[in-house]
Amino acid sequence: MSSESDFVAPEPAYPEALEALRTRRSGHNFDPTADIDDETLRTLVEDATFAPSSYNLQPWEFVAVQDDERLDQLVELAYGQEHIAEAGTAVLVAGHTTPKTADRVFEEWVEAGRMDEETAEQTKEQTLGMYADERAGRDYAVRNASLAAQNFLLSAHARGLTATPMIGFDAEGVADFLELPDEVVPVVLIAVGPSGGPEPERLPRRDVDEVLHREQF
Ligand SMILES: Cc1cc2nc3c(=O)[nH]c(=O)nc-3n(C[C@H](O)[C@H](O)[C@H](O)COP(=O)(O)O)c2cc1C
Repeated sequence: MSSESDFVAPEPAYPEALEALRTRRSGHNFDPTADIDDETLRTLVEDATFAPSSYNLQPWEFVAVQDDERLDQLVELAYGQEHIAEAGTAVLVAGHTTPKTADRVFEEWVEAGRMDEETAEQTKEQTLGMYADERAGRDYAVRNASLAAQNFLLSAHARGLTATPMIGFDAEGVADFLELPDEVVPVVLIAVGPSGGPEPERLPRRDVDEVLHREQF
């Protein structure tokens, strides 16, 4: 439906960003002879941390594995997905099931003049209450960390690297292997590294008319 106030999006302000999100692939063809260096890893993680998060709580952690023997162990925990070892770097994006950054972050809202102290305290208590049960805590971890993971994937692609997100792994086994604390859960494992060549054709996407629902499902 249209009306006189409909806003037509102008030419894209960031056309290359749109190109990056439309050309990103989950690549499986890695150059097994080259790994990303530490500065690149740090940059990818920094880009990931620009993702939005509930109240800016940033409830995510990134655990990088680059040691060859440990990568082979991760391949086993990921049911034989060899591309993890070929990529040379695996990064587990993990999420907090409890808002454990709340004290610090709500202080930052107050310091920035974006909330008064009373509102910050009330919002913090509300937030802690909201994520008190196990299901809500997991949802909180997965929603926030998934957005960071997508940023990581887009950053890798924009920087000419290949990256694949994975949930095909033994989550409990990986949590043990990486010594995650109890309140931090694995969300997405990302294999990232220099490309080894072309990828197969992209599979089709569901049409907008099929996935866009208006006013109700
Ligand atoms: C939640 C999730 C789990 C995935 N798990 C795996 C996986 O375990 N192994 C794998 O090779 N690819 C995995 N993928 C990649 C998908 O197969 C891929 O995103 C999909 O086929 C679409 O291709 P594209 O990302 O190249 O557009 C996963 C992707 C997502 C979002």
